[in-house]
Formats: sequence, structure tokens, C-alpha cells
Amino acid sequence: MAFFMTINGKRVEANDGEMVLGAARRAGIAIPTLCHHEAVEPFGSCRLCMVEVTKPEWKGWKGLMTACLYPCAPDLIVETDSERVHQVRRNVLDLLLARCPDAELIQKLAAEYGVHQTSFMQREKPDKCILCGLCVRICETAATSAISTVQRGHDREIGTPWGEPPPDCIGCLACAHVCPTGHIQYEETGMTRMIWGRRFELQRCEKTGKPLPITKEQAAFLAKRQNMNPNYLVTSADANRKQTAETFARIARWNKLGMQQEVK
Ligand code: SF4
Ligand code: FES
Repeated sequence: MAFFMTINGKRVEANDGEMVLGAARRAGIAIPTLCHHEAVEPFGSCRLCMVEVTKPEWKGWKGLMTACLYPCAPDLIVETDSERVHQVRRNVLDLLLARCPDAELIQKLAAEYGVHQTSFMQREKPDKCILCGLCVRICETAATSAISTVQRGHDREIGTPWGEPPPDCIGCLACAHVCPTGHIQYEETGMTRMIWGRRFELQRCEKTGKPLPITKEQAAFLAKRQNMNPNYLVTSADANRKQTAETFARIARWNKLGMQQEVK
């Protein structure tokens, strides 16, 4: 059921079960996020999407909530750009800058909020991982749960079981593609793809002989999980289009001739 709420003084339509982030974005109101992705359930780990919320019956009390996890409700009043909200985002980005000083996205977002240098002590050996968990969640959702968060405290990081090349990985690159900071590296040369210390062979198009952007393990996984025709995954999009065009041409010839016979 649809209803109305208020975001930044604007009447915004929202739906039951929808989160504030979705309603705001649909209304053209920008809220920065780092750990959010449409393909996975919200998790609320980065805290960058904080907004202020209140309701008339709360008698002036306003809470800071994560927009990606806070459900819309009739009469909800949301502020996405108040000074309090900006202060929280500055703090979050200040901390992230100490953790990942070389991550371009963090530098850019921090600068947008006036943070040009972290006020915390920088990590000794920084990398670009903000521990948002998106890579792990996409791997759970779309692939094989091949990676996870490992270690504790300061040593917490995204890794593979026992730090070894993960046996369950299918080399699909979903983790690398969703990573907001570009922390997950991979290499592709000729028919080979390398990620998480594993080498994968790319599928070759059976019609053109060219490499397809899919590994053999990924093709087998998709064919099984999505119940797809395996042939569709071993031919390139061009070859599939050509085949479809040929089929349509045959149907067109058949219609034109109006013959109840197979058209060669
Ligand atoms: S590797 Fe990327 S996606 Fe994974 S937790 Fe780190 S920043 Fe997030
Ligand atoms: S996007 Fe909401 S907490 Fe990260």
C-alpha cells in the first residue's frame, strides 16, 4: 500500500516495506551510501547513509537512523542534509580516511564533506577495504559463499578459508564488481582469469572461438542454479543474436510461403 511521508520538506510517496533510502532516491533526493547494493539485502555497516527522522507524536525528538535500514512510515519526517547529519557523515568519513587513506572514493566523499585529512591515527599498512561486507554478501547471494570476513579486531579483513585459494570460487568477479573502493583485484589475460589466488579458464564461444567473459566453473554453476540451457552459456551474445536472427528469418520465410512444411 502506498502512503506519503516527508523528506527535506517534500511530500514523498512511499510503499509498505520500503526503506527511506529507496523512497528518497526515487524522489531524486541523494543520500550517500557505501555498503548498499540493490542486489543484496541492506546490512547497515558503513553508517554513511545516516539521516534524521521524527514523527509529529515524538514531540520534537529526532533520531539518527541509517536510511538503508529504516522503514518508511506514514507521517515520517526525514532530514537528509541537516547539520547533525553532516556531522555524523564527517565523522564516518574521517574514520574511513584513517582506515583507507588511498581509496579514491573515500577521499572524494570525505572532501565533499570538508574532510581533507583524517584526525585519527592512520593504519600502519592501509589497504582500500572499508569492511563494508558487500563482496561477501554478493558472493552469498549470487554465487558460492567462497569468501568471508576473517580474523578479529584490527586484523579483520575479507579473505578466503585458511587464506588459501578458495575451492568454491567460480571466478565470477561479482565481489570485485560490487566493491565500492576497488580493493579486490583480478587479472585477465587471453583465456585466463586470476582472482583470490585461483586461475580460471574462460569459456570459449563454440561458434566464434573467442573467449567469453565467463569462466567454465561459472557457466556450469549458472546452468545448474538458473536451470539455463548450457548451450546458451557457451556461445557469445553475437553468435546467439545471429542464431536468433536466422530463426526469425526462417519463420518469416515460412509465413510468407504459408507452407506447412519445415523451411530449410
Ligand atoms: S573488499 Fe570491497 S566490497 Fe569487500 S568489504 Fe572490502 S570494501 Fe567492501
Ligand atoms: S548504506 Fe546504509 S549503512 Fe551503509
